[in-house]
Amino acid sequence: MCGIIGYVGNNNASKIILDGLKMLQYRGYDSVGVAFHGGQNVNIYKCVGKVEDLENSLGNIPSFTCGFGHTRWATHGSVSYKNAHPHDFGNVVLVHNGIIENYKDLIEEFNLKDILKTTCDSEVAAALLNYYYDGNPFSAINKLIKKIEGTYSFVIMFKDIPDSLFAFRKVSPIVVCKKEREVLLASDLMPLSLMSDRYFVLPEESILFVNKNKTTLYDLNNNVIESELKTIDWKADQFDKKDFPFFMEKEIVEQPDCVYKTINKRIVDGLISFNGDNFDESILKEIDSVEIIACGTSYHAGLVGKAMFEKHALVKTNVSLASEFIYAPKVFSKKPLFIGISQSGETIDTIEAIERVKNLGYPTLGIINVKDSSLSRICDYTLYTDAGPEIAVASTKAYTCQLALLYLLAFSCGLQRKVLDENKVRSLIDELLKLPELMKQTIDKRNEYHLLTKNYLNHKDLFLIGRGLDYLTLLEGALKIKEITYIHAEAYASGELKHGPIALIENSMPVLALITQDDLILKESSNIKETRARGAKVLVIIKENLLPQLNQNIDTIVIPNCIDDFVVFVGVVILQILAYYIAIDKGYDVDKPRNLAKVVTVE
Ligand code: M6R
Repeated sequence: MCGIIGYVGNNNASKIILDGLKMLQYRGYDSVGVAFHGGQNVNIYKCVGKVEDLENSLGNIPSFTCGFGHTRWATHGSVSYKNAHPHDFGNVVLVHNGIIENYKDLIEEFNLKDILKTTCDSEVAAALLNYYYDGNPFSAINKLIKKIEGTYSFVIMFKDIPDSLFAFRKVSPIVVCKKEREVLLASDLMPLSLMSDRYFVLPEESILFVNKNKTTLYDLNNNVIESELKTIDWKADQFDKKDFPFFMEKEIVEQPDCVYKTINKRIVDGLISFNGDNFDESILKEIDSVEIIACGTSYHAGLVGKAMFEKHALVKTNVSLASEFIYAPKVFSKKPLFIGISQSGETIDTIEAIERVKNLGYPTLGIINVKDSSLSRICDYTLYTDAGPEIAVASTKAYTCQLALLYLLAFSCGLQRKVLDENKVRSLIDELLKLPELMKQTIDKRNEYHLLTKNYLNHKDLFLIGRGLDYLTLLEGALKIKEITYIHAEAYASGELKHGPIALIENSMPVLALITQDDLILKESSNIKETRARGAKVLVIIKENLLPQLNQNIDTIVIPNCIDDFVVFVGVVILQILAYYIAIDKGYDVDKPRNLAKVVTVE
């Protein structure tokens, strides 16, 4: 979950590394550190806090041409100065992203207990590498790789090898960008885009050696190997916040455009085609179930996807939390299609779950935002969302783009299975293509919704209630509110209230109700009355045509009319906006909520 960057070249390494670390901060931001090779010695600077804190404390440091940096999300060892990376042990200085699972065994085996200075698994790797190092970095790294278990990416300096970096990895990513006499490597593509649009993914079971003159990749038998150069699709200016105070607001506002792009490029002659994705939709004809696996927001998108597959393609669909899937009994139908959904494509639980079913011989499809991410390299097929870089930790545009792809897949599956005919699919696509405009109208009114959030600022708890698709939308809304406002927000299926949760309703408790489904208005209206009768202060988000039937004197946000199946796209935008303004008014750093990281690479 940490971010790593390394640089060797003729330019000022400290500026490049600090700028790059700022772009990687969304991966973790509890402490930060950098190391520069000064020829005779390695200079290490670190602090608890954010990159900006380190930058301020550094002042004017000399210009170096080789160095690396690390922004941490603590796993092993508390957030402290000494646990911040880089780790310095003997001849070795390193940064690490991932987890060394057998670090305790290694401490025992190599008798390290009394010589370690930190409580980090990463320092154990540094100590071991130093132990193995006898002047030959490759054989030392090889021995280390054989000893450590877990997931990792490492960038390493040896103090007696100036101006050179070494890197290797397992699961956790490292991408590398090379220009004449200049190399930049990082945990993801964002910082690389500052230098070039060409890069390669560091293969597993290889060791990268870089200095100013040479970038060489070796396999573990010391043979030089080639890497496949790829092109970065995203432009450097997409990583810019522009005039928005936070990336989250920018990303909310970008949604109509991203959803449109995700849908429109897959419409050919009025029907859905995944040819451009190298995915032959006739596969959808053969399947007898869909198994969706994901975490967090991507899991919530999967729940809506299930509703669409079951309604429009009549195909049994299960949705599993990736972290739970691993422990669940494996009873599948004869011909399931497994779909892994992930914005980052680096979520370790999703990767492991999809890897398992792939090894069992089942077909796997990824719905992923980040190109060439680890999950996309595992899946048989990948459909990329067109959300562009999502930087705020709270996912917004990735979710609505995931929905867009799931809807397309469900309709295409319905057509393949002859549940839908071409005319019906064409009319569903027409409705889908109306959504970006409806989302935009809603987003344009965001300042109005802001006024309604004032009621929530001083409450510790918030209930969100709804039925059917509304309940699924609220699950995502509650996650947004939790993660950026720190209010304990829980979504409940309204019908379940009387089975327990209503016991928690007390005077003035805020409740948010979502009503967008025509056939649920009467029941939902009663549920709202039940909570109000117990003192709840209810705000209702309601589809325009249902307003007369609500018939209660109550605060409302009105959603423009559209077909029930599609309202999720608009409803969730309102919930994102409400969460955003509550967090802003509480004075929080919306883009970097406490304890969280954008990319979750630990189980
Ligand atoms: O990159 P992924 O979509 O696999 O990430 C899954 C979750 O970690 C992610 O959706 C998380 O829940 C977000 N912070 C929610 O806003």
